[in-house]
Amino acid sequence: MTASDRSASPRPLPKPGILDIAAYVGGKSKVEGIAHPVKLSSNENVLGCSEQAKAAYRDAADRLHVYPDGKASGLRAAVSQRYGLEPERLTFGDGSDEIFALLCQAYLEPGDNIVQGEHGFAAYAIGARACQAEVRFAAEPNRRIDVAEVAKQVDARTRIVFVANPANPTGTWLTGEEIRDLHATLPPSVILVLDGAYAEFCTDPRFEDGLALARHAQNVVVTRTFSKIHGLASLRVGWGYADADIIEPIERIRPPFNTSIPAQEAAVAALADRAFEAASVALVEQWRPWLAQQLGGLGLAVTPSAANFVLVDFPATPGRTALEAEAFLASKGYLVRAVANYGLPNSLRITIGREEHNRAVVDLLAEFMNR
Ligand SMILES: Cc1ncc(COP(=O)(O)O)c(C=O)c1O
Repeated sequence: MTASDRSASPRPLPKPGILDIAAYVGGKSKVEGIAHPVKLSSNENVLGCSEQAKAAYRDAADRLHVYPDGKASGLRAAVSQRYGLEPERLTFGDGSDEIFALLCQAYLEPGDNIVQGEHGFAAYAIGARACQAEVRFAAEPNRRIDVAEVAKQVDARTRIVFVANPANPTGTWLTGEEIRDLHATLPPSVILVLDGAYAEFCTDPRFEDGLALARHAQNVVVTRTFSKIHGLASLRVGWGYADADIIEPIERIRPPFNTSIPAQEAAVAALADRAFEAASVALVEQWRPWLAQQLGGLGLAVTPSAANFVLVDFPATPGRTALEAEAFLASKGYLVRAVANYGLPNSLRITIGREEHNRAVVDLLAEFMNR
């Protein structure tokens, strides 16, 4: 379609490529006939959020009529202090999703490309395609990002490489050394985005959050979110840290009031509640290996995960498939996530729940497999 085709159209047409984008599909939150299903479909924090964060949110209710601080100064100071980061090298987003979209807007023009893993998170591709850029998928042997496979996809039009570490929906992760190797293979003109949405759940000593790399490299962006470990998914706050020259163009195009007062203030309070954070990590560390072991005992393969969810493979046999298991769990009030749109048609992604949820999921899947 050319520009003149669009001008001659009897009704407004979006630019080429937009209607080829598959809209993001979130985890299911409803099932017919069940008033309060247990939602294990979006990797939210099953402990809720910090009581201090809730109190800060309520306190902000008296200021709903004023615009927020567009620089998120209080939150900026809190994040900078907590992680030892230069405040001027931070940017805040309406969730980290917005930061991916802003990076795409600032760095991609038609004909450019991004590279991500074959099972990579959907938001990156949506952001890139909205800028009429190509999305190149690197093979993920054993469902892990592979440095050589990423390097194979990078060409002269590559502007951004997106890596979630740990990854969603696989839960796999790269060591600090592998991330540094990956960075070393990229031309200096290519931005490496290290999406740390689940970073807190990876406690292996070989894991690095990438902040040290981003401090010294001119082409690394680390993103983090308040949606997972802090349980503030509904408030939509994420942040990015990078060289000032990467942050500056983002700040030019960022909607000026993209994080609200309640969100900024609840996030500051959440960051100070180390006990809530520790409890959230402890829950995942306790139940992730248990779930993997129990589901393994049912003959279901579980991909080793460093996040707050597990990816479980089902047989292709009719009666035992992933989609049938998803429907069976939903009929019993447990919502999990089918991930066929991530190239994993035989798998389900299950958020680690509280003890009673995890036990119920295992019991129900045992019933499903044996019926
Ligand atoms: C890998 C990954 N990155 C980013 C996000 C988005 O986080 P936010 O809520 O900050 O937009 C998610 C949410 O599920 C995710 O799985």
